[in-house]
Amino acid sequence: MNNSFSINQETIKEALANLMIPWSPKTRLLDTDLIETIHIDQNKIHIMLKIQNIDPTQAEPFRAKIEQCLSHLQGVEQARVFMNALSLDKKDLTLSKHLVFPPKKSNNSESTVLSLKKKYLDTNKPIETLNTVKCIIAIASGKGGVGKSSTTINLAITLAQKGLKVGIMDADIYGPSVPHMLGLKGKIEVRNHKLIPMIAWGISAISIGMLVPKDQAVVWRGPMVMRAIKQLLSDVEWGKLDILLVDMPPGTGDVQITLSQSIKLDGALIVSTPQDIALLDTKKGIYLFQKTQIPVLGIIENMSYFLCPHCQEKTYIFGKDGAKNEASKLHIPFLGEIPILPAIRSGADEGIPVTAFNPEGPESQAYQSIVSLLYPVIKKIKIKKQ
Ligand SMILES: Nc1ncnc2c1ncn2[C@@H]1O[C@H](COP(=O)(O)OP(=O)(O)OP(=O)(O)O)[C@@H](O)[C@H]1O
Ligand SMILES: [Mg+2]
Repeated sequence: MNNSFSINQETIKEALANLMIPWSPKTRLLDTDLIETIHIDQNKIHIMLKIQNIDPTQAEPFRAKIEQCLSHLQGVEQARVFMNALSLDKKDLTLSKHLVFPPKKSNNSESTVLSLKKKYLDTNKPIETLNTVKCIIAIASGKGGVGKSSTTINLAITLAQKGLKVGIMDADIYGPSVPHMLGLKGKIEVRNHKLIPMIAWGISAISIGMLVPKDQAVVWRGPMVMRAIKQLLSDVEWGKLDILLVDMPPGTGDVQITLSQSIKLDGALIVSTPQDIALLDTKKGIYLFQKTQIPVLGIIENMSYFLCPHCQEKTYIFGKDGAKNEASKLHIPFLGEIPILPAIRSGADEGIPVTAFNPEGPESQAYQSIVSLLYPVIKKIKIKKQ
């Protein structure tokens, strides 16, 4: 790379001088206040855009185009453009007839995903920012709403209480819940062209929910989802982590396939409720990991029983040992049961996880016993990688 070319605000503005706004074709980008910050660090450029109430199918290609214009500048080694606010109100939704909302389900065909992947992901390049992460485990489920996210945050906190440095990547592009569950608010920091994870309860966390306004419908489809995942993988400064837990969206769609093919996941944990464990969706989730040579480290049964707050008696509302028996049939370790308890729900919904505010309480014990089984597995993975 030739460093003799100096990049400055002027050269950047020159490169973007003729760029028009797709949703207002007579307006030049430079005549608007869409560019919030321009940061130059030797031969790297970082730009933050403030884009609101714009259809993401227009905003995302525009972001990519700016990146492309700048990366062609002589002397530029890296050009990154982020959108710090992408909201879509009801008016835009009704105007954008071509938008599919909710997002069309991917057909899960590997060939489609692979061809998209070729286009959007540089498959041969290892992701540098993950070099300092010793172990990456996905938390997945076949069905939605079974408790992946609440299990992820409570396991993360319990692992951190054991002295591990823990991160969470919220890979649920369509319904990110990690920031809310960890009580994280505010704007994400960008340093040296990298997103800096937010910290809560000793956990580093990153989520698309920190980059896109909360409660806004995210109408991204295949390629855009892949771009978002790529950004969450490669543009985050994790620093040294013993373990990164990846909170997956439900099912076996683009995110799962993109992730399992772009990074080396060390394993996956499957969360299920007693009613859902025998369903085909759960088996499909397990099968996808096994097919991509990602070891399924265990099954966790969530909402297994009700624990009476007075006498501590367990009531198995949906029957006992469903997941345990299914795990044994599938030759997958069974890691434990988590009771259905108001404190688990309120902790997650209020941003104060139960394991953080009451680590000694009966609610936290279920997570501790799962961690006691998981901890040696994590240790083994770390040793193997050294
Ligand atoms: N063991 C539990 N006891 C009580 N409430 C729970 C328990 N586990 C999860 N919940 C609650 O159930 C709801 C769904 O949980 P969560 O969001 O963790 O599921 P999910 O599998 O991540 O969902 P999605 O598929 O939508 O991402 C949340 O309100 C959460 O607080
Ligand atoms: Mg979730």
